[in-house]
Amino acid sequence: MKYELLTFQQHGDDRGQLIAIEEGINVPFSVKRVYYMYDTKPGVRRGFHAHRELKQVLICVSGSCSVHLDDGTETEEILLDKPYIGLQIEGLIWREMYNFSEDAVLLVLASELYDESDYIRDYHEFKKEVLRHGEDPKNHSEEISVC
Ligand code: TYD
Repeated sequence: MKYELLTFQQHGDDRGQLIAIEEGINVPFSVKRVYYMYDTKPGVRRGFHAHRELKQVLICVSGSCSVHLDDGTETEEILLDKPYIGLQIEGLIWREMYNFSEDAVLLVLASELYDESDYIRDYHEFKKEVLRHGEDPKNHSEEISVC
């Protein structure tokens, strides 16, 4: 599955903590968009989509939430509960976010501007695209690049 957990350097002192995220230094793509989710209501599950091209890093900068990842073959549940951990995702991965704590702020760094045509919002379509992708020999030796 094409995901990585990134550990960002914490610049802590007696005042508290600070993390800097810099393109090409600790995030391996050009960040064109940043968005964040907060005030997520109890029991809400969101996401329910995959992306064709988009690369993302998800950071729960406050509180906690879980992320369900599915590459069409295997699934993973990732708990994000530390503001210095980033979940880097790319490639065809279905994702759902859930178990948001009341104080959760989920920050997302994205490699592209918002583009609805990059979304696959239908799970059956996602599975079909995974099969098509796997049949194409040029997709066989992909590795996720990490800073
Ligand atoms: P949505 O895609 O439903 O969020 P998710 O699937 O991750 O739970 O997005 C909610 C709304 O916000 C929807 O109307 C689209 C809009 N939106 C933007 O305008 N820009 C963005 O970068 C994102 C991620 C969403």
